[in-house]
Amino acid sequence: FVAKRLAGCKVVLTAGPTFEAIDPVRGITNISSGKMGYALARACAQAGAEVVLVSGPVALPVPVGVRCVPVAGARDMRAAVLAALPGAQVFISVAAVADYRPLEVAPHKMKKKDDVLTLALTQNPDILAEVAALPDAPFCVGFAAESQDLDAYAENKRSKKRLPLLVGNLVQDGMGAEDNLIVLYDDAGRHPLPRASKSELARSVVEHLASMLATVVR
Ligand code: C5P
Repeated sequence: FVAKRLAGCKVVLTAGPTFEAIDPVRGITNISSGKMGYALARACAQAGAEVVLVSGPVALPVPVGVRCVPVAGARDMRAAVLAALPGAQVFISVAAVADYRPLEVAPHKMKKKDDVLTLALTQNPDILAEVAALPDAPFCVGFAAESQDLDAYAENKRSKKRLPLLVGNLVQDGMGAEDNLIVLYDDAGRHPLPRASKSELARSVVEHLASMLATVVR
């Protein structure tokens, strides 16, 4: 149960992976089930928020009361986020955005030729860093999935992207699974949460977020 602690609040979230095309039938992507992002979108809606979920390709039903904008590449995701932001008080970036995309997208299916194929990649925009740096930035929540040194990487990301709140987890603890082990990082320090289902964790994150908003925004 989540009290309507986000009533009157508009929340924009990203979730899932991005898919960066190589040619019409191939692409590169990150591994992300979208489960945590969708659970958070649902928890925000249950807490009374107006929710826009900008989602990369996943196999999950859209939660009741959530408006979903499906996207593929990071640049589509960025455009959809910027379009959804007006009026939003909160941006939660759960998506596993590909850091790089193929420099060129072949217009036709590429044919097998040499033993070695070299693919030139170019950096994608960092959507969260860009939103957090906007002059009228919403309250930004970041995610960090790491395979080691969670505390150091998470705190580093939080300060580099200037985020009031970051949710960290070790990939081996929750990737693709129904439950997860997460730690919240904010100005007050680190707050480890007990292992729980992604929907329970989403409600805890919303509780924490709502408490922070109550002191920051109002
Ligand atoms: O990739 P990284 O570990 O830096 O991701 C940390 C946070 O930044 C996540 O919340 C992710 O959704 C966001 N991000 C983004 N755009 C990128 C890379 C990451 O919004 N290109």
